[in-house]
Amino acid sequence: MVTIAVTAEPADEPRVAVSPETVKKLVALGAKVKVEAGAGARSRFADAALAAQGAEIVPTAADALRDADVLLKVRRPSATEVAALKPEALVIAMLDPYGDRAGMEALATGKASLFSMEFMPRITRAQSMDVLSSQANLAGYKAVIDAAAMFQQAMPMMMTAAGTVPAAKAFIMGAGVAGLQAIATARRLGAQVSATDVRPAAKEQVASLGAKFIAVEDDEFKQAQTAAGYAKAMSAEYQAKQAELVANHIKGQDIVITTALIPGRPAPRLITRAMVESMKPGSIIVDLAAERGGNCELTKPGEIVDHNGVRIFGPLNLAGEIAINASSLYAKNLYTFFETMFDKQEKKLAINWDDEIIKGTLVARDGAIVHPSLQGAA
Ligand code: NAI
Repeated sequence: MVTIAVTAEPADEPRVAVSPETVKKLVALGAKVKVEAGAGARSRFADAALAAQGAEIVPTAADALRDADVLLKVRRPSATEVAALKPEALVIAMLDPYGDRAGMEALATGKASLFSMEFMPRITRAQSMDVLSSQANLAGYKAVIDAAAMFQQAMPMMMTAAGTVPAAKAFIMGAGVAGLQAIATARRLGAQVSATDVRPAAKEQVASLGAKFIAVEDDEFKQAQTAAGYAKAMSAEYQAKQAELVANHIKGQDIVITTALIPGRPAPRLITRAMVESMKPGSIIVDLAAERGGNCELTKPGEIVDHNGVRIFGPLNLAGEIAINASSLYAKNLYTFFETMFDKQEKKLAINWDDEIIKGTLVARDGAIVHPSLQGAA
């Protein structure tokens, strides 16, 4: 029988890699699911709720890991955790593949096959396994909710007998998954919303959500999307034109949500100190790129910086703050991926190493880092 281990995450990670729903599905497949006691607590998945769906709750991480064939995690597990698994076990997690290279090499040293969910190819078949989308969507929502709570003014326009309250102006920078959800959420709260991006495909999506699209639409803009659907790093010339446009627009904004990212690179710097200083006191910036260095020059990861009355919030794990939803979706992403590796008749692991989604996510196998994006980067 295939044994799947789930252990608790580090103190700063409220999410967990299974939900009652996915435990039920994994058990129905014919797998055994061992969960460390309390692992789901911060997602409000009580041990009893997981056990009711067939999980075996064990007292410690070591108990869960002993003789397991598969380890499901949110964050990159420790080398000790991986070493406790069966030889040639599978580890499926958000491994942060570009971070801490020495740690990744150490993790790869064992025989385990390591899969990084962040590398899931953006193909139709894999949409239900796309953790970047499932988590970014929630982060985009929560960023606006947090900004609205910090903004000590009303969001919607209100016409009352005592006068008119103006609508707040919200500007979303980066209209990918997080940004589009931020636009939709800000619109629902009644803000007047504008957005920018460097990918031409974003233009129509922004407009369809009822927001105004603002961008430097030159020849470089027309080429800014890679075959994988991501943005390219823009030239210094483009960045200068973009900065001028943003500088003019941002000074009238009440709430700015930044979500701009380029895979494998530091976040592009889109808001300078001077731009912050041009904004009205009381304005709010939520920088979702904080973890990757931030889109705003003044962002401090994990902190709220007050600069002349403009507050800049650099949250590190917004999806984790709505952990029930984030864990439910993440666990479902993992389940759907795991299902492709499992032979339902024979009830055993059956991995097609040539499958695009396996090749795309496999970071290490047989003791070595194998992913093309990580070659030569040591
Ligand atoms: P992301 O998280 O890597 O980046 C966020 C946004 O920032 C992107 O829209 C990007 O174009 C933008 N950006 C980068 N540099 C910028 C700059 N200098 N100025 C302004 N904006 C900048 O991207 P995300 O959200 O993961 O999605 C990227 C694309 O992938 C989208 O087109 C999305 O529709 C597509 N996608 C496809 C999926 C599939 O087919 N399975 C699943 C999810 C997303």
